[in-house]
Amino acid sequence: MTPLLTAIASNIATSSPATLRQRADYTHKFNGKDGHKSSRHSWLRLTPAYSVKVVDEILAAFPGNPAHVLDPFCGTATTALCTATKGHAATTVEINPFLVWLAATKTATYSAVTIQTTRQACAEALALVKKRGFKPMAEPPIYNITRWWSDPARIFLCRLRPAIEQATASDSPERSLLLVAFCRTLMTLSNAAFDHQSMSLRNADQAELDLPADLSGQFQGDVSHILIGAMQAPEGQVRIIHGDARALGQMNDQFDLVITSPPYANRMSYIRELRPYMYWLDYLTNARDAGELDWQTIGGTWGIATSRLTDWQPDGRAFVPKWLGPTLNAIAHTDNANGKLLANYIAKYAEDMWHHFTSLSTIMAPGGRVHYIVGNSKFYGTLLPTERLYADMLAELGFTNIAITSIRKRNSKKELIEFSVSGAWEK
Ligand SMILES: C[S@@+](CC[C@H](N)C(=O)[O-])C[C@H]1O[C@@H](n2cnc3c(N)ncnc32)[C@H](O)[C@@H]1O
Repeated sequence: MTPLLTAIASNIATSSPATLRQRADYTHKFNGKDGHKSSRHSWLRLTPAYSVKVVDEILAAFPGNPAHVLDPFCGTATTALCTATKGHAATTVEINPFLVWLAATKTATYSAVTIQTTRQACAEALALVKKRGFKPMAEPPIYNITRWWSDPARIFLCRLRPAIEQATASDSPERSLLLVAFCRTLMTLSNAAFDHQSMSLRNADQAELDLPADLSGQFQGDVSHILIGAMQAPEGQVRIIHGDARALGQMNDQFDLVITSPPYANRMSYIRELRPYMYWLDYLTNARDAGELDWQTIGGTWGIATSRLTDWQPDGRAFVPKWLGPTLNAIAHTDNANGKLLANYIAKYAEDMWHHFTSLSTIMAPGGRVHYIVGNSKFYGTLLPTERLYADMLAELGFTNIAITSIRKRNSKKELIEFSVSGAWEK
């Protein structure tokens, strides 16, 4: 299909195939399929993840070998793992400590001895789970936990987690690998449909009927799955940084390729999606902290993060494209009582992304390229062209060859689209 190329500004080109499809192969669903069924990409299926295929295609199109790839919004480390698997160096930044831990575990190298000792630790942990008098942990303080897991599932998980801790040394690779398997198991045993961001809870009676008969066998199977991936070590060096994508200037490195999928301006809360893992693994202990962390993330609106938006004021340091004011005005003045709040949400999102792009421009290598995979959004009938926001901001900062390419439809509505916004840093 010939792409339709139109110049919409002096330095921004857009391209879109005549018919856009939903393309499941360009979503996280691809990462547990075909060549990736047992790879590390399949370890935990999280909806914020993008497709390995998207990253592979961008890497393949880069002229020569990239010297150092950056993903400033790490998530589940899809970019870093893909890049390192191809033998290139990668650095990735993430604000959520659970994802930092997951990324580090997913990209580490494990020796044959570690694989063997992890198997032994798994057997030891499962023996402890069955041992009379073994002290279980208290249930994590997840709101309505009985709706998430049936009684037998909760009892098992409350024994399994301390058993893993007793069978492994703290901060050891064995413990990390078993805890990733624990996350897989808790997802399988849950009543929630984890493959969609709305995370609906199934009927609890039905879920109990669907529970695997052998819970220990389920965990053992998950450990085996993780260990197959753990044997395939990525060749390239990976550095995972627990940090803020709005403050990248603190890094001393320079990067010639950025491949990333930032948070979308669609009120999706990563904390909301990740909270089961975060509570079970003690990354969260109360709802207030969950809201605080979401307030730190770009685009977060969970708990306290929403109420803070009401009084939010711009810092006056960010570039605001001319078209954004009328768009915010239209959203603020809808009939809906939340219009003003959502206009503030978008204005803050734009400000945060400006600070991100500004700090990024200080660590780009001359001749470097950036690729942002992002979707647009709609608020009360008004479309927010997030791809345009990115393109305008990159142009304002001096990036050149800026292009917006439509990649796929996000759902059956024809106006919600995922784009790739790319640009070059010639300075
Ligand atoms: C769309 S997800 C990235 C998904 C990733 N491409 C993958 O395949 O898993 C965006 C990520 O950005 C992170 N994030 C949000 N605000 C951030 C910030 N200020 N600094 C660093 N990371 C941030 C979120 O926690 C989330 O994990």
